[in-house]
Amino acid sequence: MTTTEPTPAVKPDTVTVNIDGREVAAKPGELLIKVAQEHGVYIPRFCWHERMKPVGMCRMCLVEVDGVRGFPPACTTTVTDGMVCRTQTDAVKKIQDGVLEFLLVNHPLDCPVCDRGGECPLQDQTLAFGPGESRFTEEKRHFEKPIPISEVVLLDRERCIQCARCTRFADEIAGDPLITFVERGDRTEVLNFPDHPFASYFSGNTVQICPVGALTAKPYRFRARPWDLATVETSCTTCAVQCRGALQSSTDRLVRFLGVDSEPVNHGWLCDKGRYGFEYVHADTRVVEPLIRRGGELVETPWTEALDAAAAALQRVRDLHGPGSIAMLGGARGSNEDAYAWARLAKGVLGTDHVDAQLGDGLPAEVVLGLPRAEIGDCDRAAAIVLLGPDLKEELPVLHLRVRRAAVELGVPVIDFSVADAAVSPSTISLRPGPGEAGAVAERLMSAVKSGAAAPGSRGDDPINAAAAVLREREGTVVVVLGRGSLAERADATLRAAAALAELANVKFLSALRRGNVHGALELGLAPGLLPGRVSTDEGRDAFTAAWGGVPAAPGLDATGILQAAAAGKIHALVLLGCDPLADFPDRALARDAFDGVGTVIAVDAFLSESARRAEVVLPATLWGEKQGTVTNLEGRVQRLGRKVSPAGSAMDDWRIAAELALRLGADFDLEQVDEVTDEIATVAPAFAGATSELLRRARDGVVLPVSEHRSEIVLRRSGLTILSDDGSGASWEPIRATGEELDVDPDEVAPESVSATTLSWDRKFGSTETPARDAYALRLVTGHTLYDGGRAVTSSPAIAGLAHDITLLVSGTDLSRIGVVEGTTVKVTSAHTTLELAVHVDTRLPAGVARLTFAPNAPGAADLIDISAPVTDVRVETLRLSTGKLR
Ligand code: SF4
Ligand code: SF4
Ligand code: FES
Repeated sequence: MTTTEPTPAVKPDTVTVNIDGREVAAKPGELLIKVAQEHGVYIPRFCWHERMKPVGMCRMCLVEVDGVRGFPPACTTTVTDGMVCRTQTDAVKKIQDGVLEFLLVNHPLDCPVCDRGGECPLQDQTLAFGPGESRFTEEKRHFEKPIPISEVVLLDRERCIQCARCTRFADEIAGDPLITFVERGDRTEVLNFPDHPFASYFSGNTVQICPVGALTAKPYRFRARPWDLATVETSCTTCAVQCRGALQSSTDRLVRFLGVDSEPVNHGWLCDKGRYGFEYVHADTRVVEPLIRRGGELVETPWTEALDAAAAALQRVRDLHGPGSIAMLGGARGSNEDAYAWARLAKGVLGTDHVDAQLGDGLPAEVVLGLPRAEIGDCDRAAAIVLLGPDLKEELPVLHLRVRRAAVELGVPVIDFSVADAAVSPSTISLRPGPGEAGAVAERLMSAVKSGAAAPGSRGDDPINAAAAVLREREGTVVVVLGRGSLAERADATLRAAAALAELANVKFLSALRRGNVHGALELGLAPGLLPGRVSTDEGRDAFTAAWGGVPAAPGLDATGILQAAAAGKIHALVLLGCDPLADFPDRALARDAFDGVGTVIAVDAFLSESARRAEVVLPATLWGEKQGTVTNLEGRVQRLGRKVSPAGSAMDDWRIAAELALRLGADFDLEQVDEVTDEIATVAPAFAGATSELLRRARDGVVLPVSEHRSEIVLRRSGLTILSDDGSGASWEPIRATGEELDVDPDEVAPESVSATTLSWDRKFGSTETPARDAYALRLVTGHTLYDGGRAVTSSPAIAGLAHDITLLVSGTDLSRIGVVEGTTVKVTSAHTTLELAVHVDTRLPAGVARLTFAPNAPGAADLIDISAPVTDVRVETLRLSTGKLR
């Protein structure tokens, strides 16, 4: 007798569902409510949200399904082959009437004064699906209204329909379960916990998804009605994630920024800094007219005079001291077009390559652009995500949400290199290298991955072994999120770790540089040794000489090198593109020396920052919301910016200022409209080939560089190409910056840091990453930005200004005891540079021997303590003693 093997059941790719008499195809397992929506049938809903798990709480979506008893909720019912569903029968209609009538039993008649009026799902669905009138005449329940549950969110409990969208978002998506339901029955209400405000960085999303006006945002309250608003879609440029959003204005003022659901980028979410930070565009402190220094004072002057003076100063310095005596810092605040025009002015017209969009707080541009790049969506499918960079929640908040989703919802393992636990998910494997030790730890990890044995010197439960097992055993791409974990240590340890991890078979890197359009600025040549489109000066010399009329003879200095050269009196003109080195550069002493040593400062800025106050000429620039163009995010995704309001005063787009200066210096850019700049970029910058203004207008989610159909063309155009490969991945990484031998400023003399960056390669000898021994009384400093770091976007936006974080020193409990003080005591913190007085607190996540300090741009703090040339920063923390000998 023969036996036949049972044929394994093959799951069909699609199923057929009949919805209201129409047959539609769907993926098996999809929710009925979504399938119906995709085929033009809108089933009313309150609690269901496409980005959250269904809960079936509001019962608004009940439908009829053949063979199913009663009326199942469409939001929890998955489609099956042959399913027959009806959404608009009399019975369904009667249920919808009943649900709405019940929802309105206690709902106040606030519509005329409610922020949601005119765009309220409850209002809209009552009109579309409701009974028309209510049989209830009883008194409605009353709560105090509204109550603040955080600095920016107000709660009106009477309006709540208990859909749990807000509580689920806070718990599931943000991981900040700070609001919940309390009480029972008809007293049920949403509330924060006593003494714990709803202090989530993502609280604004709950306001946006609340289907009624129960949660409202203080900054928007009573500001406008939906029919007053004009809207444009744009990307947030507060950080480098560049979340998509809808920017809204009323009477030529920005009033609201809402998240737009971009599948590859932000899934509709925004952080609160991005959502409410737009207020700084209308700050009273904006510089709105050109300023020129006369008699020691900056005074308003007409544009022509200011531009003439700036051009004359640059010309004079170039004639007297050569192009290498001019330097340019910044450019990450503007658009791609701004960056391109300034790169063209610096490199093509002035002839200097001392240009850097980063401020000593990032990574070498050739590394960022040269690594095989990941997209954010790769995290969802990754074998593992390695966090080798800053605290994402603080610096790139929505990327944190995406990584968290991958970890918590999709089960992707996370391996974390931060000194304290990044708290992405409970299963995160935390390697916890000490400051400056990431490189050595990554090498131990890789040796364990390669040998298949336990890491040398490790115990069985060592997290290195657990991480190695994950990297060995799981198939797929490993996404390394790469940035600066701490500004108190040199980038070398991070680079050494990246070089080690790059030996993994399927590795891609997601850059975690923080500044808004820093990737666009680097891509477009605002970095030494690079020209627009990911080409080195040597690779692009012929093409750009033809396009621009010339390029610098040799690679220049990065930000640290520029400031060191300026301090040595070798930079005579410094152009600031919306940057403030005196506040933002990690080594404030060096920045001060540089400004003391430089002859002429020209600031292109929207505010009179500490650095801009030192300028001879200040040229007022437009800000986000006032300008069109494109930006490039950390994936290399180019998206369009929308302009919503008129520029403040006579502020001009940065690219136009560059073009005006070029004209005065004898070069006509011949660019009139921003689209012409975008198209010139697409023509001359290899990585941007095909990214025309026309394509970008059509591309819903923008385009990731290089545009796919142009990749092979780019490969052919660049001989010896090492950065791009046909599939954009798996490329080798080699240095594309040369040695700097032809510089008129001797880098060996003035810029040892930039020289070390130029020699980076896979087989680089990382001798300089060895950290010196820490003396027993010192703590090793870790510092990075926090979301509300006291920068311009925070302090000039009234809605979030009050959230600016205090500058406190955090240490482990062990170290607090050793220092001999209680929490909150002011202590003396001394580094090789200076001594500060700071309050000290405990952070239980920190290991002993490490101190963490928020990087505060506009206040005494980490930047005063750090010596950028040292591999790590050690500080002594001691009690302050009054003359009486008592502790203060
Ligand atoms: Fe739903 Fe809004 Fe109530 Fe939260 S506050 S449960 S989102 S109605
Ligand atoms: Fe803006 Fe970044 Fe926040 Fe997104 S995560 S809203 S880009 S600041
Ligand atoms: Fe289905 Fe609420 S939307 S039960």
